[in-house]
Amino acid sequence: MEKRPVKIMDTTLRDSHQSLIATRMPTEDMLPILSKMDQVGFHALEVWGGATFDACLRFLKEDPWERLRKIRAGAPKTKLQMLFRGQNILGYRHYADDVVEYFVQKSLANGIDIIRIFDALNDMRNLQTAVTASNKEKGHAQVAISYTLSEVHTLEYYIQLAKDIENMGANSICIKDMAGLLVPYKADELITALKGAVKIPIQLHTHYTSGVASMTYLKAVEAGCDVIDTAMSPFALGTSQPATEVMVAAFKDTPYDTGYDMELLSEIAEYFRPLREKALESGLLNPKMLSVDINTLLYQVPGGMLSNLVSQLKQQNAEDKFYDVLQEIPRVREDFGFIPLVTPTSQIVGNQAVLNVLAGQRYKMVSKEAKGIVKGDYGETPVPISDEVVKTIIGNETRITCRPADNIKPELEKLKKEGATYAQQDEDILSYALFPQVATEFFEYREAQQTKVDPTLADKANKAYPI
Ligand code: CO
Repeated sequence: MEKRPVKIMDTTLRDSHQSLIATRMPTEDMLPILSKMDQVGFHALEVWGGATFDACLRFLKEDPWERLRKIRAGAPKTKLQMLFRGQNILGYRHYADDVVEYFVQKSLANGIDIIRIFDALNDMRNLQTAVTASNKEKGHAQVAISYTLSEVHTLEYYIQLAKDIENMGANSICIKDMAGLLVPYKADELITALKGAVKIPIQLHTHYTSGVASMTYLKAVEAGCDVIDTAMSPFALGTSQPATEVMVAAFKDTPYDTGYDMELLSEIAEYFRPLREKALESGLLNPKMLSVDINTLLYQVPGGMLSNLVSQLKQQNAEDKFYDVLQEIPRVREDFGFIPLVTPTSQIVGNQAVLNVLAGQRYKMVSKEAKGIVKGDYGETPVPISDEVVKTIIGNETRITCRPADNIKPELEKLKKEGATYAQQDEDILSYALFPQVATEFFEYREAQQTKVDPTLADKANKAYPI
């Protein structure tokens, strides 16, 4: 059989710690192992974006841009990847196009090679600005499809989406299975269909939550999947990804052999093992996160959402309502046009399900964000929301059908002025743009510590793109 080595993106420095330890891995824990990770020959290292940006500023009191530049310097040979939430960038609202474009420029200038861009609703209009900006800067734009199950999410639906993604100028496609819903034989079907429909590479991203993920990768790779996402074993499994070493071993001496050095991987794992132990001891890593949770398949709810629900219900002294809420989630999702559950829709649907159950009546209380979904503020839902649901939730309020960002005027100039007080580098304006309050607190902390942005690292990026 013809050799077709599978490529691996290692997520240890981004998704794995976001999924297992609330995104709390500090940069100082990453730097010492980078040179070894750089030797493996990974397709890419996922190191930035997602929740890491927010967590750096808010909890770790670190400059996310400095983190990126230090990682870039520590792993010069390997491509670096980030996760980007389309028009939401790394925040929780839609931003104007000029901010999205500037963020893409700066991410690439500071060391990112591949930008994985997704939209919670799979509304392609919310991805176009970021893809075009990445193309312009000669970055690799990967568009991720938020994978979900429903009567409308058929193979034909995914094939059409993949064709649209290829046509919009993306360099590759990722199936982003954030909840671990993709079971092995369905993966075979899906990857086979997509490989037959588009020419650009297909990558698969899943989580181990439901326990099927490594089998899913096996079938996906046999079906032609080009790249899979894994994490080093100490930060793998549970709500994280399948283990890197396990997948490498599984494909050894087959046509899909990665050729990676198992000794080297074992040394890298050895480095991360004490960090895992430390997280278990401090309680940051909850052993519950590491076990198989079959509810995710039954209720199609991402693992992170389940743990959020438990703590939300605890606060309300309504833990006994857990299963009622779980059953309510798919109903709310259906009412909202079968939207996928991923940041921020997972929180919005989860909250609304809680409100419905606690109020004892559907949509008696409705969150502002849930109204936003119905109004079209987040984009177009996979199927239109029924007139009845619209009427119940927003009455006669106006809905929008355009791309939400079309209603946002350019805002970069204004943000530059507002954020100027503490800015030590161009990038600070973008931190401020995404999280005005949190970034300001971080800048004040930085001033108080008399810390300066490292000019040797910052210079290159700033010269490339002066404000
Ligand atoms: Co993920």
